[in-house]
Amino acid sequence: RGPETVSPTGQPTGADQDKVAQGGAYLTTAQGARLYDTDHSLKAGPRGPVLLQDHHLREKITHFDHERIPERVVHARGAAAHGVFRAYGAAAGITKAAFLAEGAETPVFVRFSTVLGSRGSADTVRDTRGFATKFYTDEGVFDLVGNNIPVFFIQDAIKFPDIIHAGKPHPDREIPQAQSAHDTFWDFVTLHTEATHHTLWNMSDRGIPRSYRMMEGFGVHTFRLVNAEGATTLVKFHWKPKLGVHSQVWEEAQIACGMDPDFHRRDLADAIEAGAFPQWELGVQTFPDTEDQMFEGIDLLDPTKIVPEELAPVKPIGLMTLNANPSNYFAETEQVAFHVGHLVPGIDVTNDALMQGRLFSYVDTQITRLGGPNFAQLPINRTHAPVNDMLRDGMHQTAVHRGVAPYRPNSLDGGCPFTAGADTGAYIEVPVEVPAARKVRDAAASFDDHFSQARLFWLSMTPTEREHITAAYTFELGKCWDQAVKERGLRVLANIDPQLCAHVAQGLGLPAPEATVPLASPEPSAALSQLGRTWPVD
Ligand code: HEM
Repeated sequence: RGPETVSPTGQPTGADQDKVAQGGAYLTTAQGARLYDTDHSLKAGPRGPVLLQDHHLREKITHFDHERIPERVVHARGAAAHGVFRAYGAAAGITKAAFLAEGAETPVFVRFSTVLGSRGSADTVRDTRGFATKFYTDEGVFDLVGNNIPVFFIQDAIKFPDIIHAGKPHPDREIPQAQSAHDTFWDFVTLHTEATHHTLWNMSDRGIPRSYRMMEGFGVHTFRLVNAEGATTLVKFHWKPKLGVHSQVWEEAQIACGMDPDFHRRDLADAIEAGAFPQWELGVQTFPDTEDQMFEGIDLLDPTKIVPEELAPVKPIGLMTLNANPSNYFAETEQVAFHVGHLVPGIDVTNDALMQGRLFSYVDTQITRLGGPNFAQLPINRTHAPVNDMLRDGMHQTAVHRGVAPYRPNSLDGGCPFTAGADTGAYIEVPVEVPAARKVRDAAASFDDHFSQARLFWLSMTPTEREHITAAYTFELGKCWDQAVKERGLRVLANIDPQLCAHVAQGLGLPAPEATVPLASPEPSAALSQLGRTWPVD
């Protein structure tokens, strides 16, 4: 990129061109030719036909015709902000990631989102919220692509198209609330009972947050951290909002939906503009990297399970402050491309089958959404670390690569001494045993328990929170048109809690079925009573 310059006529050139607002002493075409008139087409006489030769007319209209890009296939509706992350140094013993060393400050960009709505949908609907953070570290980009709910609907990425097809608006009318589309979601989550835990969180107050500023965030999967000595630790990432966790009540959310569909994005932008910068502490739960990757009987590779914080407390490792709004929604919020595979030395993935599928999916979808393989060159996606990637050409290439062709081994380009040392490189620097196994399309038996943690969540709720959950299930199942779906919904609830099932059944005017699995302990043990509770950090 060239030096920052201004042309003799006051127009920005070179590196400044992608940073500044459009402006200047006169209008030009995209090629820089001065324009004398942009208000009238070239015509054969004042009342005559428009001439095809009018380049300016065609350039203006053609570019406009292509202003929109495909919205994200999920998480299309979002709002974002810039900020900074300051590490406490508390994780320095378990990861060599430089941005987690004490006092390190790293610029970040965070995009919050709903999952199912289209780009123009309303903010305060009942849904999971995305919480995706891009850390522009000195060692490359690290993306923590999480949600505001610590578990997921599915245990294996191969089910992702199924859950999303079931939840998106019905194909014929594109109305999410259409009877048939509403039924497809409930049909799926009641047949596919590993979705029970996540669905229960959705039906709780967590499904209708008060503000993006008042949500927790979760990395969901278990990650593997690697320290300077090569020792590994398994972790789950948590964001804890300094403002505490707050929700709307259903009636508020409904009114906000109608009065101000932009409620959450307005709230975030207004707060930042007013200098009320939202803050989150990043924390980790840590687990020994044992061969079975279990902790207290909980399978760490199962993304439908949490580890209660009383069993593994969340240790704060840094503070994030969001302090600037994007200056251009399209260039930043829309074009940002997160990826679970954007990792830095000291942070690695695990064998979680949901996580593994995500490693493939994001770049694949972004090649379509952002028009080719070069979206890492877009300003919002550019790493702050030096790049020497051997990638060439492709749609929307903006780099002017110099030197000989990038290949290795290579004797013509100074020997190409461009690999990192084993201690400074990212990706597979720590050999991890892969258990000898047969090829199977199957999951471990520990993945079969779909209800005990949902029950733990329910039992940890206050009476008011339980009322809200009961009302939500009664409302949602009540909107199902298919009687069999309603009845199956009640059978799922019976496996969570008989009281919950009885109250919803009463609301629906249907008999309450019996549980089909043995219920976990009737009351939460005192030690686990906080599961899923809302609490402020301080
Ligand atoms: C987008 C989170 C599972 C495919 C997103 C975004 C978030 C997110 C926060 C929005 C990113 C943004 O703001 O630009 C999660 C979480 C998951 C999960 C927490 C499970 C724990 C999956 C799975 C797949 C998937 C299993 C596919 C196999 C996608 C796709 C996008 C997306 C295609 C759109 C990306 C783009 O166009 O930039 N996800 N997701 N996700 N996710 Fe996931």
